[in-house]
Amino acid sequence: MGVPFLLSIAMVLTLTSGQYYYQGLMDYLENRFLAIEDRMLIWHEQSNRYSTELRDFKKRTAQFIGGLNEDHSNLRQDLEGAGVRVDRVERELDYIETQNPARPCVTHADRMVDVDQEVKMVNDGTKGGEEDDGFSRVSDCVDIISSIRAMKILKRTGSPKGMWTKDARSSKVYVFNGTTGDTLYQFSSVLDLSASSGVAHSRPIRLPSPWSGTGGAVFNGHAYYVTAEGDELRLLKYDLENSTVTDSAVFPVEAADPRPVYGLSPETAVDLAADDQGLWALYATRESGSISLAKMDPDALDTEQTWDTGCPRENAEAAFVVCGAVYVVYNTRAAGRSRVQCVFDVNDLVTIEEAPLLYFPRRFGAHSSLKYNPREKQIYAWDDGYQILYKLSMKRKLLV
Ligand SMILES: *[C@@H]1O[C@H](CO)[C@@H](O)[C@H](O)[C@H]1NC(C)=O
Ligand SMILES: *[C@@H]1O[C@H](CO)[C@@H](O)[C@H](O)[C@H]1NC(C)=O
Repeated sequence: MGVPFLLSIAMVLTLTSGQYYYQGLMDYLENRFLAIEDRMLIWHEQSNRYSTELRDFKKRTAQFIGGLNEDHSNLRQDLEGAGVRVDRVERELDYIETQNPARPCVTHADRMVDVDQEVKMVNDGTKGGEEDDGFSRVSDCVDIISSIRAMKILKRTGSPKGMWTKDARSSKVYVFNGTTGDTLYQFSSVLDLSASSGVAHSRPIRLPSPWSGTGGAVFNGHAYYVTAEGDELRLLKYDLENSTVTDSAVFPVEAADPRPVYGLSPETAVDLAADDQGLWALYATRESGSISLAKMDPDALDTEQTWDTGCPRENAEAAFVVCGAVYVVYNTRAAGRSRVQCVFDVNDLVTIEEAPLLYFPRRFGAHSSLKYNPREKQIYAWDDGYQILYKLSMKRKLLV
């Protein structure tokens, strides 16, 4: 009996001590759980806080980026707006320039810069009676250009540079293709040229020596052109009907160093213009940065009088002579809009107020030659391989 009793007591004791032990364990665990729960709560709160902060941050970033995008597109719009405004200002400037032109420079003849005795004799003798303050008028014509009235593109033939012109004394039209060559083409009329399929239906005329540059001229059945002969420039007068050289002269310019008369047309050393007023030559000299002008006798090719026009050669592309006044046409190296920006009148009759600033129609080409026809009052122009006619409106010079 004693042993089982003891045993059972021991068991009870063990049980109770086990119970105590478990209780303690439970308590401990519960405390731990509570602590863990507390901590989890804290973590939870913290992670909540973090995620809210993250959300806020994301929102703020999104707003910021949105703002940036908006700024960017505003900036783009501003830039586009500025571009449009610049375009408009450019157009308005063009318009204002054509409506209310800045005065082109007019340079007046330095009276009798360089007259030789022979000219004085000629003027006093055969051409006398035109005296003005003791100086002779070189040209009797009193027309001045008021505007370019119309443009007609007639044809596209030949290379980008060249020259075409009509004999003011006949209906015949001549094409000088390229900046040098010895064959020019004769058409019986402008219509004949525009209807032709090129030079095949023309009469080719073989010159005894090649022309140099685009400065030739045709008047009264004769071609006047300059040929480079060794280190001199020779002026030739050639009868187109019976194919003979009628006369020739060495051009009075330092030919060992021929310069282009127009800065933008490097092939042309001398540019000729022939009409009822005579034969004019535009050329460059070593001394001057401006274009020089000579009046020559169309029969004997004598130089009668010379002037420094004061019109700069730089950025000039071509020029033409109307009634004793030289109109120099300027452009930019990257071919832009051609304009007359310098006028030189040998008679001093074109005043600053009268001198027109003429804009050629916008074509973004470059004129390699401009030849004025006094009968038709139009210019025969060669523009990047196109043969173009410009009709001019004229007014009378204010006579002083
Ligand atoms: C014009 O001249 C160019 C070379 O300068 C040549 O290639 C072309 O065939 C010529 N055209 C005509 C119609 O003569
Ligand atoms: C060529 O014609 C002109 C007149 O047009 C004449 O004076 C000249 O003598 C003629 N020349 C020849 C070689 O026939």
